Amino acid sequence: MRVAVVGATGMVGEVMLKVLAERNFPVTELIPVASERSVGKTLTYKGKDYTVVGLETAVSMKPDIALFSAGGDTSLEWAPKFAEVGTTVVDNSSAWRMDPTKKLVVPEINAHELTKEDKIIANPNCSTIQLVMALNPLHKKYKMKRVVVSTYQSVSGTGVKAVRQLENEIAGIEGEMAYPYPIGRNALPHCDVFQDNGYTKEEMKLAREPQKIMNDRSFSISATAVRIPTAGGHSESVNVEFENDFDLAEVRQLLSDTPGVVVQDNTATNTYPMPIFAHDKDEVFVGRIRRDETQPNSLNMWIVADNLRKGAATNTIQIAEYLIENKLV
Ligand SMILES: NC(=O)c1ccc[n+]([C@@H]2O[C@H](COP(=O)([O-])OP(=O)(O)OC[C@H]3O[C@@H](n4cnc5c(N)ncnc54)[C@H](OP(=O)(O)O)[C@@H]3O)[C@@H](O)[C@H]2O)c1
Repeated sequence: MRVAVVGATGMVGEVMLKVLAERNFPVTELIPVASERSVGKTLTYKGKDYTVVGLETAVSMKPDIALFSAGGDTSLEWAPKFAEVGTTVVDNSSAWRMDPTKKLVVPEINAHELTKEDKIIANPNCSTIQLVMALNPLHKKYKMKRVVVSTYQSVSGTGVKAVRQLENEIAGIEGEMAYPYPIGRNALPHCDVFQDNGYTKEEMKLAREPQKIMNDRSFSISATAVRIPTAGGHSESVNVEFENDFDLAEVRQLLSDTPGVVVQDNTATNTYPMPIFAHDKDEVFVGRIRRDETQPNSLNMWIVADNLRKGAATNTIQIAEYLIENKLV
């Protein structure tokens, strides 16, 4: 496979190269792509040096697959140009996610929807991926009515500039700000831009994307997204109301039996998911599983995953692997 990584110099792009190498993805030719600022820079992949090229050059090389993580505007403009030359694009930005003509895929849930005709495939938002990985098996069994989720999102979810802001604040250096306020020793109830309805774009992604991925509009999700000064993963406090009652031991078993999900749940030993343990891992970790005692058929849980891995790079590469395994590319 001739594989272009668009946004190869960014936070997600860097992890993308790492995950491609780790999983021994069948790369015959790697094409690292970034903005004009980075053209000519050298990146190392599997011990070999590669020169970063611009988008125009990359399209002319007609790669088999292009893994995009270079922002929505780049995707909107360039994904169709790659698709036109026969490249299959898997895109990490929000550009195509809610486009009814594009599939929004978490491989464990809906990769079976993919066909050869899908030339631009959307990777869901990082917070959405870890949420649906835990919700999907429970929804199948108990049928969800309503979900209330509050996120505690790491600065790596915003990109290089935000990680630098936190590092500068810790070091006491004045530098460029990615957020409107300091993030160290703070919590910003503001992820992505505010919309007319008072929610942020991130909160609306959490409300809408799960319905599309799970192909079910019978449940609703209300979200509050908060940025906190962690670097290695997103956490989510999740309250779910089901149609049907559940047994807590069965809930733990269902989640444990779900590929890609790990249950870490033992209050006696202070065992629960945390970003420091999820960092650099591909799994979604679930714990603090308990009954909501204030209303019937309701559950509380805590979900943590590395936003740069399962939330972005790993999920994207799993989609690409599925395409190859099923001869769709
Ligand atoms: N961070 C996460 O957890 C996460 C999770 C899921 C999805 N995403 C999405 O992935 C994308 C990248 O996020 P990130 O966190 O990796 O951001 P980032 O660290 O800021 O990196 C952005 C990358 O895009 C490239 N780029 C920017 N403008 C470009 C242009 N006009 N043409 C070509 N390349 C351009 C940059 O190249 P230069 O180095 O040359 O500037 C860099 O490689 C975003 O759409 C984001 O929403 C991020």
